[in-house]
Amino acid sequence: MRDRLEGLLTSAREEVRRAADAAQVETLRVRYLGRKGELAQVLGGMGKLSPEDRRSVGEVANRVKAELEALLAGAVRAVEEAALQAELAGPPLDVTLPGRQQPSGHRHLVSRTLEDVIRSFQRLGFDVFTGPEVELDALNFEALNIPADHPARDMQDTFYVDAPWSKAPADQVLLRTHTSPGQIRAMRSRPPPLRIVVPGKAYRVDSDATHTPMFHQIEGLLVDRGITFADLKGTLTAFVTSFFGADRKTRFRPSYFQFTEPSAEMDVSCGTCAGKGCRVCKFTGWLEILGCGMVHPNVLTAGGYDASQLTGFAWGMGVERIAMLRHGLDDIRSLFENDIRFLEQF
Ligand code: DAH
Repeated sequence: MRDRLEGLLTSAREEVRRAADAAQVETLRVRYLGRKGELAQVLGGMGKLSPEDRRSVGEVANRVKAELEALLAGAVRAVEEAALQAELAGPPLDVTLPGRQQPSGHRHLVSRTLEDVIRSFQRLGFDVFTGPEVELDALNFEALNIPADHPARDMQDTFYVDAPWSKAPADQVLLRTHTSPGQIRAMRSRPPPLRIVVPGKAYRVDSDATHTPMFHQIEGLLVDRGITFADLKGTLTAFVTSFFGADRKTRFRPSYFQFTEPSAEMDVSCGTCAGKGCRVCKFTGWLEILGCGMVHPNVLTAGGYDASQLTGFAWGMGVERIAMLRHGLDDIRSLFENDIRFLEQF
């Protein structure tokens, strides 16, 4: 048995010398020292020895085991060192090679447009105020001076929420059709003077190349003593030059909204043709970007403000529309199809 143990050592030394890499060394380790390896097999026969023989053979076995372990550990170190030397001797690493680019995402065009618009108004001193997307009829319509029989309340346009508590018409719950109820919520929660923008989602039963059931708006409201239409024009024109560029012009056309009097629509000169007329502006030289006006006294009163002391102006604009005008897109739905090839362009 002693001879077999010594023999193991001799053959292991020979084979380890021939091992060329870490995998081969590992194979040898399993073969000699593994649970069913050569050493274990020899030791399996120890039970049949007399007690004296067992002691002396045990001593040899322990020494052989320790030597085998040292031999294999040394072999691992040797192959690792050899691999390192081979790498160092090979062609040098070219640190001037361009790196591999990590693919990275970015914010959606609509989010970016929204943030850009907000930033332009923050520079003018406006705060951000937000309201809920699920809104009371009383705030979405009633408080904004939109009477019960107004066509905007039509089931055709508004997503009504079937809420168990909404029995009375004033308790009716809906998905807000515009960000304008934010005006009422802001006035009811803050004392005048007020200078806010209300960004967020709005919903309407509508779907075609220029409408989606969900879209984004940014509402604005400024209320103080002595505010006039000149303040409205100055503020919104300052926004246009900061957001679209100093070379863009604005024009105001009379319009009608229940919550403002007088009301207007603001156009921006077309950036594609510099106002000469092209396909983007439908050959008018102008792009309509928002509705605005002087806040109706009934709206100030609904907000809890004193309409005999205060005046203000408000506006509302569609974020997708502005993004589309800025990038010359002609179908709003392309913004929500999540085709990564389309979105990556922006
Ligand atoms: N709420 C209007 C809409 O969704 C937009 C609007 C027009 C908001 C005039 C205003 C405003 O605050 O003064 O079409």
